[in-house]
Amino acid sequence: MALPASDLTKQPDNRTTMELGAVLPRTAEVNDGHLFIGGVDMVELAREQGTALYVYDEEDLLARMRTYRDSFHALYPNSDVVYASKAFLNKEVARMAQREGLCLDVSGGGEFACSQMVGFPASRVFMHGNNKTPRELREAISAGVGRIIIDSRIELGRISEIAGELGVVQDIYMRITPGVEADTHEYIRTGCEDSKFGFTMNDDFAFRCVADVLAAPNVRLAGLHCHIGSQIFALHSFKEAAAVMVNLMARIEAAYGYRIEELDLGGGLGIAYTADDKPSTIEQFAEMTTTAVKECCAELGVSLPRLLVEPGRSLVANAGVTLYTIGILKTLPGIRKYVAVDGGMSDNIRTALYHAVYEPAIANKADQPRTEIVTLAGKHCESGDAVVVDMPLQHPDLGDIVCVFGTGAYCYAMASNYNGQPRPAVVFVRDGQARVVTRRETYADVFGRDI
Ligand SMILES: Cc1ncc(COP(=O)(O)O)c(C=O)c1O
Repeated sequence: MALPASDLTKQPDNRTTMELGAVLPRTAEVNDGHLFIGGVDMVELAREQGTALYVYDEEDLLARMRTYRDSFHALYPNSDVVYASKAFLNKEVARMAQREGLCLDVSGGGEFACSQMVGFPASRVFMHGNNKTPRELREAISAGVGRIIIDSRIELGRISEIAGELGVVQDIYMRITPGVEADTHEYIRTGCEDSKFGFTMNDDFAFRCVADVLAAPNVRLAGLHCHIGSQIFALHSFKEAAAVMVNLMARIEAAYGYRIEELDLGGGLGIAYTADDKPSTIEQFAEMTTTAVKECCAELGVSLPRLLVEPGRSLVANAGVTLYTIGILKTLPGIRKYVAVDGGMSDNIRTALYHAVYEPAIANKADQPRTEIVTLAGKHCESGDAVVVDMPLQHPDLGDIVCVFGTGAYCYAMASNYNGQPRPAVVFVRDGQARVVTRRETYADVFGRDI
């Protein structure tokens, strides 16, 4: 699909890189016109490691993990932060989450396998997925996975059977679709009624299914879960979801005489993709959700549950950037200016998929104002292949290194080998040092499985 028509009236913002606000990783700075992150010169790093390249500010990642953990513990001691690893998972980030005392949310067997390869305690892993295969379930249950979030009655039967065969009782949560319409893109909105995920509240279906869950052998209903969507700016959506969930807990206790001990409110806190975005802070999110749960529980006479949240994007997105080299410049008068980079939809599908918006800057001209409106086209054989559409950029020249901010979530995780493109390396930077934590793929990696 082609790109949407360019807005030719759009004016460049003349901002320099350091004026891009909350999209910048915490340690971003400009020295002699070059962008530095973690004390490392992004221009030199691009030359050393090649581009496209994913770069993460390690100090930023750590600070966000600690802010989440500490703000929830301070306001609600019986709580845990469960990192939604679908946003960005490799072995090093899993180790980091473990060291920082977080739990891990995995979607299916692949992410679970990664957690086990680095020795993440299985008891602190929460397994999600709307269609986990019997094999994935068996592997997770035999490894002692902490919680399995069940998505349907069929899955309940499957888990009950496998746990029975393995001679264990598996702790599970029911995923509920609370019917809260979060204000976000429809592809990443999951808590509304038309969703493939979870037990619907329509016709009181979820409430009625609790009877089946309580009657099923070899499983224990440890808690309820909901996730209303992603990139949410309006905190009141979380408050509404908490109210629906605590109400359901109260009804379950009254009708079935069964106390729900844990409540998982999912992830979804929005982040800054543009310099003008003003998302809520992690502290505000913690304040809103913990207060909502405490107030609803007090009102309905429900004992306070263990509270869990599952942030993905808000832990990693702004800590990560992608570096590219400019290879082609093409101006179509009265249409748009294309700046082609050496990556694209294979390392960042979000622009083509959800019309995601990102702020770019030229790392070797970082102190200059962004005086042009450009589209950063990818190198793939697809007209809609772009990383950035109609955004301000410093005057581009061939060979410039472009840094696209806010790409730390759902970019590496969704990367593909389209056109046989090897996936980029992932580098962590800190205190002037860069370390490759995932090496760049080779052509042999891409085609090595072919017979
Ligand atoms: C069940 C569940 N939990 C947590 C998340 C993480 O959401 P976010 O990255 O918006 O914080 C997702 C994202 O899709 C999810 O499906």
